[in-house]
Amino acid sequence: MQALRVTQLSPDLSGVALADLPTPTRAPGEVLVRVRAASLNFPDLLMTRGEYQFKPQVPFTSGLEFAGEVLEADLGSGFAPGDRVMGGNKTGAFAEHASVPADRLSAMPVGLDFSAAAAMGAAYSTAFTGLVELGGLQEGDWVLVHGASGGVGLAACDLARALGARVIATTGSPAKAERIAALSRPEAVLTAEGRFREQVAELTGGALADIVFDPVGGDVFDESTRCVAFGGKLVVVGFTSGRIAEVSTNIPLIKGFSIVGLRAGEHARRFPERGAAIQRAIARLAEAGAISPAIDRLLPLARWREGFAAMARRELVGKVVFEPGA
Ligand SMILES: NC(=O)c1ccc[n+]([C@@H]2O[C@H](COP(=O)([O-])OP(=O)(O)OC[C@H]3O[C@@H](n4cnc5c(N)ncnc54)[C@H](OP(=O)(O)O)[C@@H]3O)[C@@H](O)[C@H]2O)c1
Repeated sequence: MQALRVTQLSPDLSGVALADLPTPTRAPGEVLVRVRAASLNFPDLLMTRGEYQFKPQVPFTSGLEFAGEVLEADLGSGFAPGDRVMGGNKTGAFAEHASVPADRLSAMPVGLDFSAAAAMGAAYSTAFTGLVELGGLQEGDWVLVHGASGGVGLAACDLARALGARVIATTGSPAKAERIAALSRPEAVLTAEGRFREQVAELTGGALADIVFDPVGGDVFDESTRCVAFGGKLVVVGFTSGRIAEVSTNIPLIKGFSIVGLRAGEHARRFPERGAAIQRAIARLAEAGAISPAIDRLLPLARWREGFAAMARRELVGKVVFEPGA
């Protein structure tokens, strides 16, 4: 089968290539899936460089999430051949087949195609866990979402709006603002450069943001500490800026807000019932047409380099989805 292998860690994708591998053998407890679509996430790029917190042993097959059809499963596993499923296991998604533990899969929402399901999984569960589980999102809240052109950022804008929040999106790339606005219909799209607190204060009538959702970090995080309302939450999602910010603890004390660290996958592993409830809530919203993932480009896996390079060059608005075997 066709698979995207990382044979050497490299800063420039030079250690990544397509390879022909045997179809994986399913171990007991696993489900063998024919992968129809697999989406690219920032951690996939970081893992090719050895810069992600999870460091798989080289060589490995890249890709942390997919959607596809079940080929083989244990009786009683809850899955049967032909079921349409989505999920993943940190690596192995960018291949024609993947064998993963049954608890890493869920049924695809009815009405979604494989590319939408692959694009939805990690981005929307990260957004839901950050905004609802940790952020305590309520209807009418003001939510400030950074990195709003990204897979996770756009999902957070889409989900927050669907749940009745008022969204202020930010981007570090002003040329993307129009596309962000068209895709996620926020109250405003700001440029996250320098001082943006005054714009947030003006838009919120002085109230500031009840939740700040921050996949960017660095200077954007620093300014965000000035944008959170009293009693609000600043959710730390990631560090695409490349700088992990530091904060003096007197700031959240004086301003009365909380800084919350998000690990969406770990949250679901530690609290499996909550994880399953999150998946069901997302599926219900998707099936009702209230949320839908934005796909920037759909590519055959053979064109993997184009997708990875576009993410590295920060060109995307939404997700890259690969189709193995296409
Ligand atoms: N905590 C969790 O549980 C969890 C789960 C999944 C992902 N994440 C993290 O969430 C972050 C976003 O992931 P993603 O898959 O949505 O990535 P993505 O699609 O590449 O989006 C990242 C966005 O960050 C912005 N950005 C700002 N500075 C950047 C820089 N120097 N280089 C590249 N992008 C920059 C870009 O938006 P603009 O160009 O619009 O500024 C870009 O669109 C990553 O850090 C990832 O590790 C965290």
